[in-house]
Amino acid sequence: MGDLANHGDAAYQETRRKLGEQEDRAQRIDAFLTADERGNLDRLRRSDVRIEGAQSWHVDDRKFAAKVLAVDEMLSALETKHAAAIDGAFLDRRRSDVRRLNLPIETADIELLASGNVKETGPVIAVRRWRDSGKPLLVMAGPPGTGKTLAAARAVLHGGGKYVAARDVARLFLAQFGEESEQARALTETDGVLVIDDIGREKNHEAMQTGLIELLDYRRRDGRRNIWISNLPRAEFEQRYSDERLLSRIKGSGDWFIEASPDMRARARK
Ligand SMILES: Nc1ncnc2c1ncn2[C@@H]1O[C@H](COP(=O)(O)OP(=O)(O)O)[C@@H](O)[C@H]1O
Ligand SMILES: [Mg+2]
Repeated sequence: MGDLANHGDAAYQETRRKLGEQEDRAQRIDAFLTADERGNLDRLRRSDVRIEGAQSWHVDDRKFAAKVLAVDEMLSALETKHAAAIDGAFLDRRRSDVRRLNLPIETADIELLASGNVKETGPVIAVRRWRDSGKPLLVMAGPPGTGKTLAAARAVLHGGGKYVAARDVARLFLAQFGEESEQARALTETDGVLVIDDIGREKNHEAMQTGLIELLDYRRRDGRRNIWISNLPRAEFEQRYSDERLLSRIKGSGDWFIEASPDMRARARK
């Protein structure tokens, strides 16, 4: 008996899951269907699965299972038939998602991010590990051209958030009132990952440092996550931002990712 009940539950759960999935799939392909295809799909999805001649509304389990299967097959056939159009539309949407991030990158990199066809670089792996670690902060330091910006942009694309240049953030930190101080406050409340790129080139390091500490404290308190990127080597980064409060926060709630500088690599080979 117990077995039967369990079996019933599992089968029921599976059917619910399937129905939800079919709902999503039908919605996703709807715009690509011809009127006939849409009509056929709708008719099949709404077809009657009642027990024939029953007084009240009782589902015939066998009919129901057969219908779910038939809908699955029809959806698969339609998805295959319209695959190119569906993929194209998906790529278009991803492209505009990438553009909306306002990244300082080339068109080729927009395509790279939109297609999702990125290589497993050090920064890509580091960002994934950090994402799973749940830590509030990831600091990526290392020379230009190693894929830090791209990896962080990808995190925002997938998990939501915002990408800002350190230069702009430094300006907002200095603002006392008006539009810019509003924007500074908005940074504390940006959901998802806040990426601050190219830290270390702004003029006023002191103000930057204080601003970063406050921003991190606000965001950390609300469980919001942060990626800081610098093209400085770690030693230089720690020299420039030497406030103990900043370094201890990085140590306590963050991960470091440090890309070996080119001359370090050359030395390691010897
Ligand atoms: N994961 C990746 N897969 C493929 N190409 C990449 C990847 N990461 C970076 N690149 C290439 O390397 C270039 C430099 O990457 P970028 O993220 O701007 O480096 P950084 O921010 O460290 O200076 C990019 O323009 C891109 O073409
Ligand atoms: Mg960069």
